[in-house]
Amino acid sequence: MERNVFARTSSQHKLIILLLFTNKLSVFAQNSPSSSPQSSLTFHQREILDNATGLSLEWNLSLESKTILFTIERLRGSAEGNYVALGLTKKGRVEQGADVILTGIRSNGRPFVTDMVAANGRAVVQDRNQNWVLVDSQTLASGGSRITIQRGFDACDEQDMPFNTALIHLVWGYGSTTSSRTQTEISWRNESRPIYFLDPIVVPPPPQENETIKTFRVSRRMLIPARHTTYWCSMHKLNTTLSQKHHIVGFAPYFSSDLGRKHVHHQTIHRCIAPVDSDPVKLFEPFINHPGEECYINKRTQLPRSYCVEYVHQWAVGGKNVLFPDNIGFPLGGEYSPVQYFFYETHYDNPEVRDDLDVETGADFIYSSRLKENEGGIMMVGHGIFGQWVMPPMTTEFDVAGHCNPTCTTRMFPPGGVEMVAARLHAHLSSRRMRIKHFRNGIELPWILNDENYDFNFQPWRWLYNPVRILPGDQITVRCGYENTWKNSSATVSGYSTRDEMCVGWLLINKRLDYAHCMSEYPSEKTLARFGIQNMTWDLDLHDRIIHSATNPQNVGLTFNQLVTNVLSNYTIEQRRALEDEQLYTPHVQSCFNFISGGRIQYYLSLLKQELPEGVELPLPAMFRDLQVSDRTIQMPAISSVARYPREVPEYQPEISCPAPKSGGTGEGVYRGYKPPVGIGGKWRKY
Ligand SMILES: *[C@@H]1O[C@H](CO)[C@@H](O)[C@H](O)[C@H]1NC(C)=O
Ligand SMILES: *[C@@H]1O[C@H](CO)[C@@H](O)[C@H](O)[C@H]1NC(C)=O
Ligand SMILES: *[C@@H]1O[C@H](CO)[C@@H](O)[C@H](O)[C@H]1NC(C)=O
Ligand SMILES: *[C@@H]1O[C@H](CO)[C@@H](O)[C@H](O)[C@H]1NC(C)=O
Ligand SMILES: *[C@@H]1O[C@H](CO)[C@@H](O)[C@H](O)[C@H]1NC(C)=O
Ligand SMILES: *[C@@H]1O[C@H](CO)[C@@H](O)[C@H](O)[C@H]1NC(C)=O
Ligand SMILES: *[C@@H]1O[C@H](CO)[C@@H](O)[C@H](O)[C@H]1NC(C)=O
Ligand SMILES: *[C@@H]1O[C@H](CO)[C@@H](O)[C@H](O)[C@H]1NC(C)=O
Repeated sequence: MERNVFARTSSQHKLIILLLFTNKLSVFAQNSPSSSPQSSLTFHQREILDNATGLSLEWNLSLESKTILFTIERLRGSAEGNYVALGLTKKGRVEQGADVILTGIRSNGRPFVTDMVAANGRAVVQDRNQNWVLVDSQTLASGGSRITIQRGFDACDEQDMPFNTALIHLVWGYGSTTSSRTQTEISWRNESRPIYFLDPIVVPPPPQENETIKTFRVSRRMLIPARHTTYWCSMHKLNTTLSQKHHIVGFAPYFSSDLGRKHVHHQTIHRCIAPVDSDPVKLFEPFINHPGEECYINKRTQLPRSYCVEYVHQWAVGGKNVLFPDNIGFPLGGEYSPVQYFFYETHYDNPEVRDDLDVETGADFIYSSRLKENEGGIMMVGHGIFGQWVMPPMTTEFDVAGHCNPTCTTRMFPPGGVEMVAARLHAHLSSRRMRIKHFRNGIELPWILNDENYDFNFQPWRWLYNPVRILPGDQITVRCGYENTWKNSSATVSGYSTRDEMCVGWLLINKRLDYAHCMSEYPSEKTLARFGIQNMTWDLDLHDRIIHSATNPQNVGLTFNQLVTNVLSNYTIEQRRALEDEQLYTPHVQSCFNFISGGRIQYYLSLLKQELPEGVELPLPAMFRDLQVSDRTIQMPAISSVARYPREVPEYQPEISCPAPKSGGTGEGVYRGYKPPVGIGGKWRKY
């Protein structure tokens, strides 16, 4: 008999569990579903900024009037002054021209808010236009203050940061009375907080009386290998047997210490599913005490990864706890196997190559006995991570895209389509802009997600205002913009290391599909041909490929990164543009495999594609061994087709929220509110 630790499941117990998954106590107390189109979303959030002064910021949105309300509360005074300054910045630094709000209660008892702009050093000066409006103010018994101010999402003012879907790094500090009301100096705190101000959060309803809510953890303790990048995979098991089906309703990353949080760059957990005619316990149990192995490009792979494809958890640096909307759950137990096995992949980042990083990391899942209306799933889209694309050194603006084409969406989605409720963007250190585009019948629909200020260090799941319906025949394209001048003279190649790049998105959808990936690749053969590479193999320690055979014998022995850097350094501007266009706009190889059926073979082979020297036998799972397949001859039961960038389709134009600039406009059709971040080299070109 399963021991029910919550046998006396008072609603208090249940609430405590839920609270473990949210630090937004106040939100629970004030669940106001009426304010949002989706019942469990709220646009009211709060962040504690400074414990020393009890400074917090609360914000509420009105989508109808496109305005944001800030409530700035300060409980105690500060040695640096009693006025609070908030900076809305791109990168968390108050540079000249940064948007600053100064607010407080003057010694004469009059509250104020002043729209400011950063000048040199710590100085801030009054903005030409005052766009914040004082709504309410209170002097608190503690001597502090609580001030509510309001502004339009887009103040249509060059000196004000628009609130849109791009990331904002909030900074804060304190200032004092000066003789001049138009200029002062701020003591900025040395901290910043990345915030998507317009994103809603999910507030699940309180548990029902007869509902059992429990948690389980998938985690692994290990010494992180002493190299820059490691992808480690291991098998795990649900700590209980569930003969009745349950639904996973949320997950949270788990780190035993800050060391783990610091060195884990991303992690995914997959559900393992045994073939219909085989026993999951026999198939998976032998690996439960296995220490794990390198996930990719590993010739000695032993774990039965090809059965463990379906995502149940996806987290990357900066991500937060995730609670699903009340109409979505991921199935657990019951018909999906009362004994549930998981496959846990971790990307450890160890740039200082330390050998003393002993960490336990993983995820906590929350699951409920109450079955939700829809069984959901997670799907990965974008540019295939095995595909090879390259980008020249010292480039301020370079785009790459990957697709999920109509052939795939027709095969993957049921006739009525699926609804996407949240998305996560993922790329590495050179990424500056990311966008998930949506095409239907020769028209581009509104972007599913757009971030013109992508930050590698902050990759939470982002809830969409309204679920986006994707129909069979639609195309989803992830487009990514990079800047790699920070790497000095090194080129950038696609790859696993945070110094190499990816261009992918994860989508949380309201249907459980037999497909987990829908991605396209620029054909790697073309990249190899461009550099005259005939044979290269993977070097685990360098985390790079070594060239063994090349048309130019001088290149033998170089790493792929070195050769690409050597060749692309000499590219002219025209050659760079041509390379970008070639990778973006010429046909890609598309794939979306059904992981329940033969797609397993394709997945297995794609993992092995670049790992095995020719002629080496593929260690296929036993059920496929009789097929005598090789990656040259097998007929894939999964789809492999050609994907294209629908370049001829006019680009989606976001609503114009501001009048066109009267004069001196950019003349390039870039709309206010969707301008690219300043100072990162160029704009998002129209295409
Ligand atoms: C404030 O204190 C709380 C509770 O001790 C802590 O969790 C939080 O991280 C602190 N926040 C800051 C900004 O120091
Ligand atoms: C913000 O929203 C919350 C929850 O709906 C509400 O309690 C609070 O009064 C609102 N704040 C303001 C300043 O309107
Ligand atoms: C700000 O913090 C960083 C790291 O936390 C530290 O290296 C730096 O010296 C600090 N700067 C100031 C001005 O305190
Ligand atoms: C829980 O109670 C609700 C009504 O209160 C009922 O509709 C539902 O079937 C019950 N669920 C279970 C699992 O007993
Ligand atoms: C399973 O693990 C969770 C925490 O991860 C714990 O609360 C629970 O008691 C465990 N269940 C059993 C049956 O051991
Ligand atoms: C690039 O060059 C600067 C200046 O020489 C140096 O400080 C920096 O560490 C270099 N960056 C990389 C990634 O090599
Ligand atoms: C590629 O190079 C490796 C290492 O030198 C060698 O073992 C392998 O046989 C080569 N493969 C081909 C196809 O030439
Ligand atoms: C690139 O240019 C440099 C200097 O002009 C030259 O030494 C080098 O050989 C060139 N590299 C390639 C791969 O053409």
